Amino acid sequence: MIQRFSFGQMIPTESVVCSLPVSESPVPYLIQDGTGWRYEMAEDDIVYGLGEMVRGINKRGWHYCANNSDEPHHTEDKRSLYGAHNFFVVSGFGGRPSFGVFIDFAGQVEYDIGYTEHDVFTFRTAEPDYDLYLITGDGAADICHQFRGIIGRSYIPPKWAVGLSQSRWGYKSEEDIRAVAKGYRDNDLPLDMICMDIDYMADFADFTVNTKAFPDLAGLSGDMKQQGIHLIPIIDAGIRADEQDETCQEGLEKGYFCKKEDGTPFVAAVWPGEAYFADFLRPEVRDWFGKRYKVLTDLGIDGFWNDMNEPSLFYTPDRLRSAVERAAELGAKGNLDMYDFFALQQIFSSLSSNEDDYKTFYHQINGQTVRHDRVHNLYGGSMTRAAGETLQTLRPGTRTLLYSRSSYIGSHRYGGIWLGDNDSSWAQLRENIHQMPSVQLCGYLYTGADLGGFGADTTPDLVLRWLEFGIFTPLMRNHSAMGTRDQEYYRFDKQLPAIRNILNLRMALIPYLYSEFMKAVLEDGFYFRPLAFDYPDDAMARQVEDQLLLGEGLMVAPVCTQNAAGRYVYLPESMKMLRMRSVDDFDEEILPAGHHYLPCALGEVLIFLRPGHLLPLVRPARCVAELDESHFNFLSYSADGNPCTYRMYHDDGLTTDYLRPEHWQTLTEAAKV
Ligand code: GLC
Repeated sequence: MIQRFSFGQMIPTESVVCSLPVSESPVPYLIQDGTGWRYEMAEDDIVYGLGEMVRGINKRGWHYCANNSDEPHHTEDKRSLYGAHNFFVVSGFGGRPSFGVFIDFAGQVEYDIGYTEHDVFTFRTAEPDYDLYLITGDGAADICHQFRGIIGRSYIPPKWAVGLSQSRWGYKSEEDIRAVAKGYRDNDLPLDMICMDIDYMADFADFTVNTKAFPDLAGLSGDMKQQGIHLIPIIDAGIRADEQDETCQEGLEKGYFCKKEDGTPFVAAVWPGEAYFADFLRPEVRDWFGKRYKVLTDLGIDGFWNDMNEPSLFYTPDRLRSAVERAAELGAKGNLDMYDFFALQQIFSSLSSNEDDYKTFYHQINGQTVRHDRVHNLYGGSMTRAAGETLQTLRPGTRTLLYSRSSYIGSHRYGGIWLGDNDSSWAQLRENIHQMPSVQLCGYLYTGADLGGFGADTTPDLVLRWLEFGIFTPLMRNHSAMGTRDQEYYRFDKQLPAIRNILNLRMALIPYLYSEFMKAVLEDGFYFRPLAFDYPDDAMARQVEDQLLLGEGLMVAPVCTQNAAGRYVYLPESMKMLRMRSVDDFDEEILPAGHHYLPCALGEVLIFLRPGHLLPLVRPARCVAELDESHFNFLSYSADGNPCTYRMYHDDGLTTDYLRPEHWQTLTEAAKV
């Protein structure tokens, strides 16, 4: 059951797609606490959700703030990352209540989940105008399923977007892109996409191409497609302030940029230097901005990533000016004492994405002028919406790949998200495992992290271990920052055979992974989920944070500790373990329920088949479009001797005609080829 409670006059977010009557009864379970809400947790209550926030799958033990931030250090002390995912589930055990809460509010929301007081959960919104949805049901999985039902169907990418994507900030020319394609193809490694970071643009201006470095982008895109590779350019939120630039000119002429109090356009610097920010909260601005993507779709581009859309601000001209003046004053003092030195450091470290700058510009929402900070969390998601909605009209009936860094629940209908600027550390691999189910239960199904890590230098063992998990994430992208060690998979000579085998395993698994992805989208179900969603009465399963259920038949348990030669795994019931070195080379063993230490060398992947399940595999190919899905090999675990079956979804992967009954078929082992 879902109850909606309304407080004050909320600014519409369009997160919820159905209109539920407002309940006048008291809010169950929660106690009003000043301007917020309070819940006393039992020791074994679990709190799931809050999307991409740091820390565990169980969110207890920290305080968070929904405040979309360009935060490149995803360490445990951080309170906000790029997305505002204000949905959580309190999951009680042994007769204690379970319920879900969605706080539909576009400004900041503070959560204290046992941070101030170990057993007390409080949350509050920055203003008293919001809707609160309270969901009860048959446990965490049912509650999340109901939530998904009110926020609308998750975004579906083209099927080729479940292939591998290679990215790096620093591919500066057509030659660089061709070299990456060659690196993959010459080494016989599958690849479906190459991302183009800001270097493809002229002076980092959106919807332009640096024609010196990329003289014929249409030709390059065509050549890549011949090899089964799609080019995926980045689009940033800030529009270069340059009156020669068409996007800038049009935006200024039409008055589409966010304005300051005095009516002049708000300016802040990002990659292109000073930039303007489109008011994505206005439908006509979304439509205009979305149509700008045509500059690139006309060149054969069929996928994009939207970035810097919190929006990230490097500095505003006013703040920079006063920082430089203040620094000059301090500098004139000469021998600075400790306090002056820290003050000097602080002047520059507080220049970027300063909270006070978010209070200096305005949006137009339904004829009202609204200060940015009040709707800050809607900005990035609205950029995704601008692109997503308009690309549907630019390319009718055809899917376009789209994912974003910043998000607000609702934008899951228009694009996926990637998990931003992580770094090459084992802690971030573990974080990736925690984030996947958490963002997916908030509707973001097409999701993944930068495999191998974005910031800092990676290591060959981390690349391999991360890939062993990454092959299960719907968005599978290797991306790294400028200046870091080369990270394309073909760079790791000694690990290359293992990398090839694991990438091929991903390709072999695609019929299953895509089918489970589509089931999760079309049936408001789950792709990744915590063990306790399916084994709610198992107290041990409720504690597991480093194993995930994947679709109907699998559990994965990645090794995420450096130098480990295996790991402990908890099985809530008997499962068949597959220790896979490649599609054709694996050990299998039926294990009883309970704890097991399982060896798993570098280059091996542990997959667990649940009883009664059938896993279809195909022969790998160099890209998704070339997979032959008419012949399957099967792996199965029939605990009771009955043949296993698999309900499979299969469509053309390109058009938006998702709902045809013939997309579903039942596979049985008897059909083995
Ligand atoms: C941001 C993005 C990152 C990208 C970089 C340069 O940091 O998160 O993925 O490489 O900008 O565009």
